[in-house]
Amino acid sequence: MSTWVVIPAAGSGSRLAAAGLGVGKQFMPWRGAPLYWASLRTLARVAGVHGVALAFPPAELPQASARAEELAAAQDLGLPLRFAAGGARRQDSVAAALAVLPRDCSRVLVHDAARPFASAALVTALLAALDAGARAAVPAVPVKDTVKRVAAGRVAATLPRAELAAVQTPQAFVLADLLAAHEHCARHGLDVTDDASMIEALGLDVAVVPGEEGNVKITTPEDLHLLRTGQSPRVPVTGWGYDVHKYGPGRPMVLGTVPIQGGPEVVAHSDGDVLLHALTDALLGCLGRGDIGEHFPDTDPRYEGVPSAVLLNEVLEMALEAGLEVVHADLTVICQVPRLAPWKAQIRSAVAGLLRLPPGRVNVKATTEEGLGFTGEKKGVKAVACVSALLPA
Ligand code: CTP
Ligand code: MG
Repeated sequence: MSTWVVIPAAGSGSRLAAAGLGVGKQFMPWRGAPLYWASLRTLARVAGVHGVALAFPPAELPQASARAEELAAAQDLGLPLRFAAGGARRQDSVAAALAVLPRDCSRVLVHDAARPFASAALVTALLAALDAGARAAVPAVPVKDTVKRVAAGRVAATLPRAELAAVQTPQAFVLADLLAAHEHCARHGLDVTDDASMIEALGLDVAVVPGEEGNVKITTPEDLHLLRTGQSPRVPVTGWGYDVHKYGPGRPMVLGTVPIQGGPEVVAHSDGDVLLHALTDALLGCLGRGDIGEHFPDTDPRYEGVPSAVLLNEVLEMALEAGLEVVHADLTVICQVPRLAPWKAQIRSAVAGLLRLPPGRVNVKATTEEGLGFTGEKKGVKAVACVSALLPA
């Protein structure tokens, strides 16, 4: 018996259209990934969650699911993912995702892709409500404003505030009940704005757990500032990295994962990608976590010949966990030979891909040392990297 989470992420974000995002709000980049991914990071920390089914807009399904699988692999998410083509209404998207759940799934949480701030503790509280015997549970917060029914520009009624609550997601259900509720609504042509309403329409009980004031649904352009501040203040940090590799029989030259054809061989324990080593050290600098040698000692046979991109990815994962958002990287390779001008653009886009940054946020420079020193004597290559990032304060 397993518990899965369904994430409807197939909306068009029409109320945010004025902000001119260029992509649906669920896909806008936030902390190095599409917005909906924030919820997966949270869910991966909850022991009782076994997998996630996502509904994407039909036209974007192949591309969006490939990206999700790529993020899951890069971050070792530890949750199986399934995908469905969403529908015209939110409830149609939820129904499509429910249809791809595995057979052994018995409980389900439904969570809006546009609510990136829900906490792992909230998910745990909802699961605990089901454990305690509830068949449906929703998070709710008290309403602060006085709520009135309004029609044609006139107040029709004032609702008693003490009785009102604003309901959020995730919402937790026994799967069989939710499937029956969806079928009931489909048969009777009911339009709803959340899943609990469907359960209510069946006359079943819905338990309430305390919601979170911070668990906002990004809905209108005014909500975007919450993403900019990430709800908590952040400080700019800078990390610097430096690395040297000696020329000599060993491994073919690689810079920023790009093989430099015709370049000299380098002596190295790993793949000898001097540029990625400097970059990895710069990231560790931003994190305040020492240097590459501490994390991946070259005395450890596990790192023999390991591509530097794998090590970089491990550090990027640490960065994600720490909430570090890389905003820019400036890299310089220093060598007399080979001539690097023809390779700079390729290296730049490769590194931007690794950092999941647009190429404009990565700069690659190459220089010689005018025949001086060990690079001038063509005995080796060095690289320096400067990374700018934002870290939660
Ligand atoms: N959603 C969905 N399929 C739809 C409509 C909505 O999967 N046909 C998802 C949205 O992607 C979002 C969640 O349901 O994660 C909550 O819906 P809402 O905030 O209303 O998002 P949108 O419908 O995209 O925005 P809007 O109503 O402003 O158009
Ligand atoms: Mg909507």
